[in-house]
Amino acid sequence: MCGIVGAVAQRDIAEILLQGLRRLEYRGYDSAGLIVADGSGQVNRLRQVGKVQALFDATQQQELRGGTGIAHTRWATHGEPTEKNAHPHVSDNIALVHNGIIENYQSLRDSLINKGYQFSSQTDTEVIAHLIHWEQQQGGSLLEVVQRVIPQLRGAYGMVIMDCRDPERLIAARSGSPLVVGLGVGENFLASDQLALLPVTRRFIFLEEGDLVEITRRSVHIVDQQGNSVERQEVESQVQYDAGDKGIYRHYMQKEIFEQPMALKNTLAGRVSHGAVNLDELGLAADQLLANVSHIQIIACGTSYHAGMVARYWFESLAGLPCDVEIASEFRYRKPAVRPGSLLITLSQSGETADTLAALRLSKQLGYLGSLAVCNVPTSSLVRESDLALMTKAGAEIGVASTKAFTTQLAVLLMLVAHLGRLKGMDQLLEQQIVHGLQVLPARIEQMLSLEKRIEALAEDFSDKHHALFLGRGDQYPIAMEGALKLKEISYIHAEAYAAGELKHGPLALIDADMPVIVVAPNNELLEKLKSNVEEVRARGGQLYVFADQAAGFVDCEGMTIIALPHVEEVVAPIFYTVPLQLLSYYVALIKGTDVDQPRNLAKSVTVE
Ligand code: AGP
Ligand code: GLU
Repeated sequence: MCGIVGAVAQRDIAEILLQGLRRLEYRGYDSAGLIVADGSGQVNRLRQVGKVQALFDATQQQELRGGTGIAHTRWATHGEPTEKNAHPHVSDNIALVHNGIIENYQSLRDSLINKGYQFSSQTDTEVIAHLIHWEQQQGGSLLEVVQRVIPQLRGAYGMVIMDCRDPERLIAARSGSPLVVGLGVGENFLASDQLALLPVTRRFIFLEEGDLVEITRRSVHIVDQQGNSVERQEVESQVQYDAGDKGIYRHYMQKEIFEQPMALKNTLAGRVSHGAVNLDELGLAADQLLANVSHIQIIACGTSYHAGMVARYWFESLAGLPCDVEIASEFRYRKPAVRPGSLLITLSQSGETADTLAALRLSKQLGYLGSLAVCNVPTSSLVRESDLALMTKAGAEIGVASTKAFTTQLAVLLMLVAHLGRLKGMDQLLEQQIVHGLQVLPARIEQMLSLEKRIEALAEDFSDKHHALFLGRGDQYPIAMEGALKLKEISYIHAEAYAAGELKHGPLALIDADMPVIVVAPNNELLEKLKSNVEEVRARGGQLYVFADQAAGFVDCEGMTIIALPHVEEVVAPIFYTVPLQLLSYYVALIKGTDVDQPRNLAKSVTVE
């Protein structure tokens, strides 16, 4: 969500800031801005509504000299996306960019107005700039000033502050919103995500919660929440990512859908062989912990939550482990009664989702046996703060709509089910079946992807629709939910998913010729039940699109289009049936001309609650 880039260098840095913002565009934003100071009193601020390209165009009209600066892509929380509300915000000599929300901004604003400050935006952020300015009048270095301001703020922030009169340094603070320091030679950088800085460095320090940092060209000084100077480990980035590289694909989402066979191979590599799952990477201590697990609590948001829902079926039916799944934003605000022997599993592509992180932090006082994160970003807060972690190896996911992160999460979860199942005495034959299913999956998905043209043609039927219904049963119900989420997210068509058996309890009233009904129908023991539900829709004139196993016995007829899919091993069917639904939503969005990779109002990593 939104992005921050900052630099202290000898060379002019406007170009680096803009390039950094470009590399963060995928996260979703509505306006962008930057401020640059050259040390001789010359300060330039530019802000634009819309894309970073608009900001770039504006910089072409004006020379932006200076080695110190901060830049931001804003995802509005308080105040519309206007130029005035765009960051950086300034208070006289103080300039500031901020990710997150200041919850007590109203009372701060009132007291600053009483002190004579005038506000030029509707944002919560502007109060921080004025507060810092006010505190600076009371004396102390900029670092000390920010240290005094922080206890006055409630909410979440990643922020970077520059004193335009002394642009030798930048101060940054992290609480609930990630920040990294990028280390250069005779220059240093800050960003909300390492991807922004990869063109200038591969050496990073990931700030921890509550950290404050002062960077100059030659120094990095970190102070922890208690005010003590601390050393944080320097990490060499392993991320392979070229922002400009969509290859032959039109969108990142399309590229990422097609990368799934490879992403799955990478995720499985070294973890399945000779009919067994090998998760030794968890370490010996983990086996001790996992052997005592008698209940699983999964916490996640959005697509990751859907992965958790599938995993629940697997944990219970394959490993015999009771499992509950909950949306992080609900879990964190109730008082959960924790079962003895419960393991908390968090699922997240980014590892920075505010609600999921908050739920993990809360869980530590609740009596869980321990926590395990399934995540795609090894350096993320979620991974660092969990007792155990299993990485999905999907590679950077840029499209806001999650695709390969989901299918690789499912693969990791299935391996975990087998691993825990074995500790609980699961039949070896069942483990072999799981391993076989996983090993053939990349090839099965290749086969599925070859149906792209067929699905593209089908997408035409949806382009004038305003609503759609997705149906599934058992472990395909969450896949129907994921299909509906994908469609609404990128094509803006209102879509709902129902467990097919629930249809007659209400949603059947919606069925008419204008309501496309998408059904996922693998050839499993629920098939006959599902067929009855399909008939219920047909009898009421609904337009059915059935993604069915080729041997499931469905035939094309009036009101019912069958998309026959190759047979797949039952245990991995949820992973497999996800793919055609991804393609469907992608092509519907393409026809509708929406912004596929950065759908309106959304952000890739939701770092505000
Ligand atoms: C998926 O297409 C969405 N963009 C969204 O639901 C996402 O899955 C959710 O925000 C959770 O993100 P995370 O996996 O990074 O925690
Ligand atoms: N709450 C701030 C605003 O609305 C920051 C939003 C963001 O994280 O981009 O300006």
